[in-house]
Amino acid sequence: MLAFHHHVFVCTNRKPDDDGCCAARGSEQVLEKFRAGIRARNLQGDVHVTACGSLGTCGHGPNMVVYPDGTWYSGVTVNDIDEIIEQHLVAGKVVERLAWLDTDLLRQTIADNRAKSQSRKQAEPSSSK
Ligand code: FES
Repeated sequence: MLAFHHHVFVCTNRKPDDDGCCAARGSEQVLEKFRAGIRARNLQGDVHVTACGSLGTCGHGPNMVVYPDGTWYSGVTVNDIDEIIEQHLVAGKVVERLAWLDTDLLRQTIADNRAKSQSRKQAEPSSSK
């Protein structure tokens, strides 16, 4: 049995240089609008909304993922929140214009982002000398 019908994770990760991160693109405002939309519809018992760290699709943010169905959304703005709540969480239909419909492309994007991040870390001078 599910504790909530939906669990929504909104990336609010902020990178030190704001380079392509969700926070630099307004994800904290997206999170607050989402929470307010859930409260306004009295859906707190059905939908749990959590801020999270990087989801790995950094260059496409603000990003969020909705479980249990595992729908990933990118490029979400505060203007999209009512539609996601009403269409996806209430009516059960994915907002296709914002969703990653190609899961192979999603997985490859995350893998590429991870490789880029690891490469950047390896290029940084060591601070443990
Ligand atoms: S900073 Fe949000 S997905 Fe990476």
